Amino acid sequence: MQIPTHLAIIMDGNGRWAEQRRLPRILGHRKGVESVQNIVSECLDLGIRYLTLYAFSSENWMRPQEEVEALMTLLGTFLKKELSQLQKMGIRLMAVGELDRLPKSISEILKDSIKKTADNDRMVLNLALSYGSRDELTRAMRTLGREIAKGTLQADDLTEADIEAALDTHSIPDPDLLIRTSGEMRISNFLLWQTAYTELYFTETLWPDFSREQLLLAIEEYSRRQRRFGLTGAQLRESKVDGWEGRH
Ligand code: IPE
Ligand code: IPE
Ligand code: MG
Repeated sequence: MQIPTHLAIIMDGNGRWAEQRRLPRILGHRKGVESVQNIVSECLDLGIRYLTLYAFSSENWMRPQEEVEALMTLLGTFLKKELSQLQKMGIRLMAVGELDRLPKSISEILKDSIKKTADNDRMVLNLALSYGSRDELTRAMRTLGREIAKGTLQADDLTEADIEAALDTHSIPDPDLLIRTSGEMRISNFLLWQTAYTELYFTETLWPDFSREQLLLAIEEYSRRQRRFGLTGAQLRESKVDGWEGRH
């Protein structure tokens, strides 16, 4: 089985999981955290090097205040509880998104955990928090615009690498596989630049029900795909470089 270097997941369906059981939505989110803990350790076992989880989007701020507050509380509890586990498992925590928008108490725990796990090298757990791809690209363009205005960068010399370097994900390779749970077939403002050549996998399973079995199904399907990066199948067979994995 071909294991993706970088797996990204849009963890969707917590609310519906709860609603189907006539439970408050927040219980779905709480159950979703158990899936996170489970999938993090499965990914580590499989040898995945980078796992990016879409946990809270820029647009999710517009949800009812009660749900936003409950999600923030859940995030704080998760971060506090998980630090010792991350250390034990050798996982480095990273985060992308507009982190300044998070409540101060949470951004402080987050920064602290990121710092304390910085030397761990078995896997990167990258949380997308208050993340929106258009927001990330807008902030990147502001950074580049300032450099052009200062004269440290020439507009005509701007490269794809400069844009990549200005993104929140600058130290992380592009995702090889993106999974979205709950049957929705959209990207919802997630990693628009970075998923240019990512394999997409959609499953009806709701995030709280997503287990090792579903993860293996997704990776098996990924293993059967031929990643062509714009080339022909014949070119790939000639190059003998399996799927051109090294290209990105
Ligand atoms: C995903 O589950 C978690 C977040 C967006 C925070 P949802 O809360 O979107 O669940 P559904 O889509 O309403 O079922
Ligand atoms: C995407 O799910 C964001 C996260 C999983 C954090 P949403 O439930 O917010 O997406 P839409 O609203 O269905 O597009
Ligand atoms: Mg949803």
